[in-house]
Formats: sequence, structure tokens, C-alpha cells
Amino acid sequence: MISLKRIYYYLPKTIQNYINTMASNVSNNTEEDFINNDNYGKLYDLKKKDREIIIRRIRYCLSKIPSATNLNVQLHLIKNILELPNNEKNFIVECGAFKGASSVALSIAAKITERKLIIYDSFEGLPDNESGPSHKREYPHLKIKGHYESGMYCGSLEEVEKNLKNFGEYDHCIIRKGFYENSLINHSEKIDLLFLDVDLLSSTKDCLKYLWKHIIDNGYIFTDDSCDLKVVRIWFDKEWWSNNLNQDPPGYIGSGCGINLDKEFSSLGYTIKNPNLENLSEIDWLKN
Ligand SMILES: C[S@@+](CC[C@H](N)C(=O)[O-])C[C@H]1O[C@@H](n2cnc3c(N)ncnc32)[C@H](O)[C@@H]1O
Repeated sequence: MISLKRIYYYLPKTIQNYINTMASNVSNNTEEDFINNDNYGKLYDLKKKDREIIIRRIRYCLSKIPSATNLNVQLHLIKNILELPNNEKNFIVECGAFKGASSVALSIAAKITERKLIIYDSFEGLPDNESGPSHKREYPHLKIKGHYESGMYCGSLEEVEKNLKNFGEYDHCIIRKGFYENSLINHSEKIDLLFLDVDLLSSTKDCLKYLWKHIIDNGYIFTDDSCDLKVVRIWFDKEWWSNNLNQDPPGYIGSGCGINLDKEFSSLGYTIKNPNLENLSEIDWLKN
């Protein structure tokens, strides 16, 4: 075992990442924690058996369709949805579906918590706003770079509907097609939890511009672009927030490397709208 570990550390990063992904298919702490911790879904009377079924459904979906989010990311989103209150119920919103893998996971949690999931996507892939080599993306923490092309991550409306019917909870979904600059303008529903997986800065800005005002106070906004500094910067951009939303930027937890889900990085980060700071605990290394 020790010599195997030594070999691992000599391998290129890409191969290490591949091995990590494969290993997480065999043993996964996040998964074990989700199955065995009875606090997950307590509000909705979820039992260990129910949580095992959720994992099995997600794994099955991930084995059948391409996904830009992994099991850990999807489970983390589900955990957060299961924390939503059982009395006042609003909507869960996802921007960025691709083939619908994350939508499947969110729809399962939407059903359990008796909410609707609204899915926004062009269903034509990425727009051409930040397309081509002149729009470089840098992920310094991962030591990688590249660029997007328009049409990348395309999943058609029919494909996503089919995948939701086959693997998820289609009846709990409302699907809205179009590029965000048009499709989000008329959004009116109150949002309990927002998941953005839209890759581009321009798309992130459109989502924030039209959806932020609908998110409840203390509501979580997750994004799957935590390692892309170009996108993450918006969460700290005083001028943009002042001009567009008339408030200070909320900041972003997980900037550059994501929250602690996988070994060295995760794609997921978040912010909280007007967080309720009264729930924070005191600690001995800070004066109170
Ligand atoms: C990385 S994929 C989403 C991956 C998906 N969440 C998953 O788990 O597989 C990004 C998605 O965002 C959508 N998208 C990005 N910018 C958009 C825009 N401005 N308007 C509409 N859709 C957009 C693309 O069509 C694509 O489906």
C-alpha cells in the first residue's frame, strides 16, 4: 500500500484526479456521512433506507448521462435543500442544466421537500458572449487554463425532459427555455435555494441581476464555478453590485478552490443572502 501511494504522488495531476474520481466511486466519505447521519432529512422524516435510495438513484443517473457535476456536489445541494423549513415553502431554482444530471438530483430533493424546481437553460449550450481563445479562463488553484466555445454543454429540452422522467422527478419541475438575458426577466417566484452552473461571467451577471431580488433572506446561492477567478470576482465587485443591485457585494465562500467536498478542490462555492448572523456560535479565539 505504501509503495502504491508513493507511485500515486509521482503521477501527473490529471491522472491523480482521475484516480480520485474512480476511488470516490468505491468509497466516499460524503456518501457514508449522508447515509448514516440521521440529521439529513430529519425535518422530512427521511430514514437511512430513503437516503440510500437517493444515492442509488443519483449514481444510476450519473452512470447513464454525462454530467458536469459530481456526486459530492449533488449530495451537498440535496443536504441543503433538506434543511429548508417544512412550513413556508418557496421554489428551488437551477440555472444551467446541460443534460439534466444536477436537475435530476435537485428534483429528487424538491419532491421530498414538496417544492417545485424551476430549471432555466438555453437548451442550446453556452451563448457566444465569452466564446473563443480571446476569452481565456484561468483556474490557478488547479493549475489549468483554457476557453469556452459557444454551444458547449448543449443538452436539448427533449433530452433533459427525458432524463428527468427516467431518473428524476419530472412532475416537480418547471422548465423555462431561453438565454438568460430574456428568459429571466419575467421570473416572479420567491426562491429558497438557487444553484448556478452557468460557466460564464456574463451569464452569472444575468442570473444575479434578475434573480437576486427573489431570493429569501438567509437563502443559499450555490455556484459550480468556484475555481474560475474571472467568475468568482463578481461576488466581490463593489461597483457592479452598487450599480445593479444597490447593495454591497455579498462575497463568496470557496473562492478559487471551492468548499471542502473533495480532496484538493471542489467546483462548488456559495454565498448567503442577508445571512442570519444570530445563529453563529461564539469561539474562544475571538472576543465577544
Ligand atoms: C456546465 S453546464 C451545466 C451542467 C449541469 N449543471 C450538470 O450538472 O451537468 C452549463 C449550462 O449553462 C447553460 N447556460 C450558460 N449560459 C447561459 C445563458 N446565458 N442562457 C441560457 N443558458 C445558459 C448552458 O446551456 C449549459 O446547459
